[in-house]
Amino acid sequence: MEDRGFDLEDRLADLGEKRRLSPADRVAERGYFAEPTGGELPVLESAEALVFGSNNYLGLTDDQRVQDAARQAAATVGTGAGASRHVTGDTMVHRDVERLLAEANGCERALAFPSGYAANVGTITALEPDVVFADESNHASLVDGCRLAGCETIVYDHCDVDDLRSKLVERVEQPDGVVTDGGDESWLILTDSVFAADGSVAPLETISDLATEFGAWVMVDEAHATGLYVDGGGIVQAEGLEDQVHVQMGVLSAALASQGGYIAGSDALIEYVLARARPFVHSTGLAPPAAAAASEALHLARHSDARERLWENVSHLRDGLETMGFSVSGESQILPVTLADHEDAHALVRELTEHGIVVPPVVRPPTGPTTADRADAQSVVRLVPMATHDRDDIVACLETLQDASERVGLP
Ligand SMILES: Cc1ncc(COP(=O)(O)O)c(C=O)c1O
Repeated sequence: MEDRGFDLEDRLADLGEKRRLSPADRVAERGYFAEPTGGELPVLESAEALVFGSNNYLGLTDDQRVQDAARQAAATVGTGAGASRHVTGDTMVHRDVERLLAEANGCERALAFPSGYAANVGTITALEPDVVFADESNHASLVDGCRLAGCETIVYDHCDVDDLRSKLVERVEQPDGVVTDGGDESWLILTDSVFAADGSVAPLETISDLATEFGAWVMVDEAHATGLYVDGGGIVQAEGLEDQVHVQMGVLSAALASQGGYIAGSDALIEYVLARARPFVHSTGLAPPAAAAASEALHLARHSDARERLWENVSHLRDGLETMGFSVSGESQILPVTLADHEDAHALVRELTEHGIVVPPVVRPPTGPTTADRADAQSVVRLVPMATHDRDDIVACLETLQDASERVGLP
């Protein structure tokens, strides 16, 4: 019989730059990491590393109050939801976190999913838009939501509102130049607010204005902004756009130090999505300790000095990088250092890791609309400070980077 299985050894060899898992002893601004060991038991490094590559932006994963909230929920509600929220997995802690999220997002209601990925895929597929206008750098979960929804997806250049406008206009113009109203199609404009690959922030005000002008809905993924702006909201709150953004999506898994995702919006949106979104209906509810931890973290994001400490660290690190001569773009807590040479970027990350600074993998954000442009794209090394770094940590990061750059031979 012919072998109809999967030649995984061959496929793995083709993967080239394989993603490998390096476990840490804990999730915090510093920790001990192990070399990737495949299936073997990992051995932790003897030296502690500083983490400048986590989405745990407010450093709340090891905050006593957040941990106590998780512990208490585990003890009083249970360690797992036990079933879909539609069966027996809907608990008071879910309702509590949803009430707080609705309040922080200035919306009627919120709905918590077991992950941010599920929130995006579930919401887009439930809405079943006819046409989606999507930023080319949108997160994979938004892309997958569109694929699964089977909608027509029109991609616009990254954060380019002129390109978005021209694509909206193109859609309403008939081939003979006659302007129509787009028929009875439903349109959704879909964008991240903060793009993790390059730290850029979407021009949400203009995007919302375009949506209003063309009658489209807007859905914004605030995964990298949730909890970091005014009153624990995201960019939508910072810019006062709650009334123009129809679906605010965010995560409990980054600044809120937990696990899970959510959407916030009108009562009708939530009622509809909770009934129709398959990743909500057919998946076990968010674990109660995760919901309770996120509630406490959201409270701290709103009412403690954690946000202030994060933004101070961001500004110190950005100033230091610029003083060292690096070009740092973006306007968020994710500080991208752009390098012309891809190999240099990889060498720099290797050097940083070997000398105790853990950063995310190198990325090559798109710089133009075509694949050819992307092949020449510059490479980005990202540094992501946390609220719990102290001044010495920021200095250590800068000094290590300085030494690493010299060893790599950067100008
Ligand atoms: C922009 C964005 N959206 C959604 C997600 C998915 O969130 P989660 O990790 O909670 O599934 C991520 C996660 O990494 C993300 O970066």
